[in-house]
Amino acid sequence: MATAAKETPARSMGHLALHYGKAEDGPKAAKLLSLLGLVETQVLPLPDGNFYRYVVDNEHFARGDGIVYLSALPERQLKLIEAIHDTFKVGTDNEHEAVQGWRQMLIEDPESSFHFGFLLNSLEDLERITLDLKERAENDPDLKGHIEIGLNRSRPGDPDVDARLDASPLFGDVTRCAYGRNGVQVFVKTDLLKAGQLGDGMVIELDYVFPDRENHILSIVEM
Ligand SMILES: [Fe+2]
Repeated sequence: MATAAKETPARSMGHLALHYGKAEDGPKAAKLLSLLGLVETQVLPLPDGNFYRYVVDNEHFARGDGIVYLSALPERQLKLIEAIHDTFKVGTDNEHEAVQGWRQMLIEDPESSFHFGFLLNSLEDLERITLDLKERAENDPDLKGHIEIGLNRSRPGDPDVDARLDASPLFGDVTRCAYGRNGVQVFVKTDLLKAGQLGDGMVIELDYVFPDRENHILSIVEM
């Protein structure tokens, strides 16, 4: 009997449109996406700043899904963000208490507001990428002061997972746990990507789930 052709899924995640602020920040935001492991397929110079196309991996080069676009904030969106910041006195001593509360919420849980997650198939890749970003957060002039990294390890319970994470150069001393088992999360908070309620930053999440487990952080949420 002939092997059945692999069925094309009826639908998939298509693309995500991200923005940076000033034209000169375009290459820095693009560098961050590359460091996160995305593959740059196009750079189109435009008067207000480069337009970039990225894909999640080389398999997606000519496809219509797995795409991240990156471009400069449109002028009128920039004006809206400025108006929001003026109105709520963002970043001043008189910052609106709702803004302060929202910030505190994000400190307590980086994925409690708008964010986007990428799933990696290799824990070693996730560790390598994140350790590199942590080093660059201290020493890379393009990224220093622009990224903060948070980590969640799996809820304990699976001896093999626990042992692997105990031995991890990244997760070994992490005490914060994900909303579930058999997976880990990395949160990269950056102001190089302008999104979210105040339009001044966003969180990108990188995930890994251990294979062949009955459930994991992205299949069953545990509170
Ligand atoms: Fe998330």
